[in-house]
Order: sequence, then C-alpha cells, then structure tokens
Amino acid sequence: MGDEAARMPAPSASASTHAALDAAAATAPLLRITDLNQYYGGSHILRDVNLELREGRICCLLGRNGVGKSTLLKVLMGLVAQRSGRIQLGEATLGTLPAHLRVQRGLGYVPQGREIFNRLSVEDNLLCGLAGLPAREGSRVPAWIYGWFPVLERMRSRKGGDLSGGQQQQLAIARAVLARPRVLLLDEPTEGIQPSIIKEIGRVIRRLAREEGVCILLVEQYYDFAASLADDYAVMSRGQIIDQGPASQMAHRNLRALLAV
Ligand SMILES: Nc1ncnc2c1ncn2[C@@H]1O[C@H](COP(=O)(O)OP(=O)(O)O)[C@@H](O)[C@H]1O
Ligand SMILES: [Mg+2]
Repeated sequence: MGDEAARMPAPSASASTHAALDAAAATAPLLRITDLNQYYGGSHILRDVNLELREGRICCLLGRNGVGKSTLLKVLMGLVAQRSGRIQLGEATLGTLPAHLRVQRGLGYVPQGREIFNRLSVEDNLLCGLAGLPAREGSRVPAWIYGWFPVLERMRSRKGGDLSGGQQQQLAIARAVLARPRVLLLDEPTEGIQPSIIKEIGRVIRRLAREEGVCILLVEQYYDFAASLADDYAVMSRGQIIDQGPASQMAHRNLRALLAV
C-alpha cells in the first residue's frame, strides 16, 4: 500500500481544473448506459458497454469502422433492440420504449448519412422535427432555428435532395435540435463534408452544450474535430469501450493512430 502511494504521479492539473472536474463528477449523469449488450442474429456486437453522459458536456466516441458505434446510437434510440443491460435517461429506464417516445423524453438523433427527406422542402424537413411537440408549437418552423442555421433560411423552399452534403447535414442537425433534446446523439456529422461547413457544425455543437446545456454524444472518426470539441472521450473497439476519460487525456493516448485505417 505504502509503495503504491509513493508511486502515484504528482498532480499536474491546476487547482481550478480539479475543481471543474470535481464539479462535473458531482452532477448525476443524464444518460447512463450499464452493461449493455446487443446482437445482430448470432453476432455479438455491443459487449458490456458502460458509459455516463452529463448535462452540458460533449463526449466523443471514437473508433474504427465496424466496431459498433452506430449500433450503440441505434440501441440508445430504440431503433435496434438491446439483449441485456440498462439505459437510463435521468431517473427513467428506457427499456423497450419505442423511438418516438424516446424523442419525446428528450433524446435527439442525427443518423450517419443524414437521412433527410430528399423530395421534401427544407421547411417541410424541419417540420418533421416538430412532429413530437404540442400542435401549437408544431405547425410552424420557429425563426430561431434559422438564426442557428442561416443557410437553411436561404434554402427553405429548396428540396432536401438538392442541397449540398454539408447543407443536408446542417438540415439533419436542425431537425433534431427543433425537438429540443436534452441529449443529442450525432453519428459522424463531418463525414464527407467540406471544412468550412465542418467549422459551422462545430460551432453549433459547442453552443448547444455550452449555452443550452444539451448533453452530446458525438461519434467521430475525424480526430481533430473530436478533440476540438470534446469534454470527455471514449474509445470503442469490437463493441467494447476500451478507454475513456477527460479530453485532457486524449492527446496522450495516441488515438489518432488508433483511428487511422
Ligand atoms: N443491420 C445489420 N445487420 C447485421 N449486421 C449489422 C447491421 N448493421 C451493422 N452490422 C454489423 O455490426 C457491426 C457494427 O456496425 P456499426 O455499428 O455500423 O459500426 P460503426 O458505426 O462503428 O462503423 C459491423 O460488423 C456491421 O457489419
Ligand atoms: Mg457508423
């Protein structure tokens, strides 16, 4: 015991950093994933996943193609069934709750590949994001969303399918944000998108967390983008979380190499 204590590294973070970390640790998690397992047929994909997400914080989930990142988000949304384990949003256990009721409880989802409606106008795509709200709020696209995404106002009567990939990604994020999520799950929002729009998307994600207190789980393979936004990180390999911690540790973990294909 005494030897172990002597080998502990000297604290390197400042007192204020410690205070901030302690404060974050003291808040109860908003989304808590415990021993989550999932199978596609006979293939065991998610293996005893444990993860806790807190209000106003951005957690980046990193990992190579095919390790189960998107599957995790689909299970969280209730689009794919879990085999065992527990997902809690606040005090409530989600269990077998269907996706649309998870949205009403405060889960938002921006799927990989965006999945906007190509034949609907931008405005009608946005109205879909309001579907779960009371009728009074759900009949018109509120002006504030165009303040967040000015490009969508200019494009409001265009067809979704006529937008660039980056604009479609912004549309998909706006649609999810309109439902006022407490937790937003984003699946590779930078995939195939030009740098100027990646920056804008980064600004929106940061603002959602910092100003609105939204808890964000960001799946990413673009390391620099993830590192620029993360408060916390987790790494998935073959359906397991193999490493996690505060973003200050990311640089020391050689994660960039881990993501290289
Ligand atoms: N609908 C499905 N049916 C069967 N296997 C699937 C299905 N979707 C994904 N998989 C498999 O599950 C594994 C994890 O996929 P996925 O969650 O998409 O990984 P990631 O998002 O990390 O790239 C992969 O081996 C993939 O081939
Ligand atoms: Mg994926």
